[in-house]
Amino acid sequence: MSTVKDSIDEIIRARHSVRAFLPNPVPKTLIMELLDLAARAPSGSNLQPWQVYVLLGPSKEQLVKKVCALHDDLFLHPERREEFKPDYAYYPSKWISPFIERRRENGWGLYSLLGIAKGDKEKMHQQHRKNFEFFGAPVGLFFTAHRSLEGGSLIDYGMFLQNLMLLAKSRGLDTCPQAAWNSFSEVIMSHIGASREEKLICGMSLGWPDAAHVVNSFLTPRLSAEAFTTWLGE
Ligand SMILES: Cc1cc2nc3c(=O)[nH]c(=O)nc-3n(C[C@H](O)[C@H](O)[C@H](O)COP(=O)(O)O)c2cc1C
Repeated sequence: MSTVKDSIDEIIRARHSVRAFLPNPVPKTLIMELLDLAARAPSGSNLQPWQVYVLLGPSKEQLVKKVCALHDDLFLHPERREEFKPDYAYYPSKWISPFIERRRENGWGLYSLLGIAKGDKEKMHQQHRKNFEFFGAPVGLFFTAHRSLEGGSLIDYGMFLQNLMLLAKSRGLDTCPQAAWNSFSEVIMSHIGASREEKLICGMSLGWPDAAHVVNSFLTPRLSAEAFTTWLGE
């Protein structure tokens, strides 16, 4: 007999970032159901910092066109990258061990699965570009928060996002959370009609997975709890 525990374990284990989707639409009622339940996430003083923008059809396509064109332009003119600043620093400005090694392992793992050799900048660019096509997903999501909110709200946001991804998985849908969009905050915030008081937290692709695509066989390792846990008072 399958228990609640088994189901939760299974969903947590089954979720992984999906980077190739089928074009089949996701019903609006289903998206609302996921968002309603995801909002059961805890947040300090119940601030509920989340603001969600759902992009479908032409609105999604227009943004994809704009940002892909920008991404291509920056590939040809890397000196212009400075002009595109995220609303907050997602990654450290200085990479140190062991994080730099984990980042490299993750990046090269994905590229080698796709047959992209180290130094093949054109192919890397094309793969990175798929972020800005929402990896072919029918639903593009953007998450914003009020600029006055601090780091604590990012913790709360993470719980909301994880709820959303697990809920999606439980219904046969998949996701890819995306910080790649963050550099293009200005273009995105204007496109979605967000106010100047909001900051972009991240984007997310949502849809039905393309199970046949090799990119979706990419599974990532984790350290065991033993490696990151200190016991005291035994
Ligand atoms: C907030 C956040 C932002 C991320 N941004 C991107 C992104 O822009 N593009 C991408 O392909 N993956 C992105 N990822 C996915 C991570 O690479 C992935 O979660 C990690 O490698 C672990 O793999 P898994 O999600 O398959 O378990 C992001 C993940 C998180 C949590």
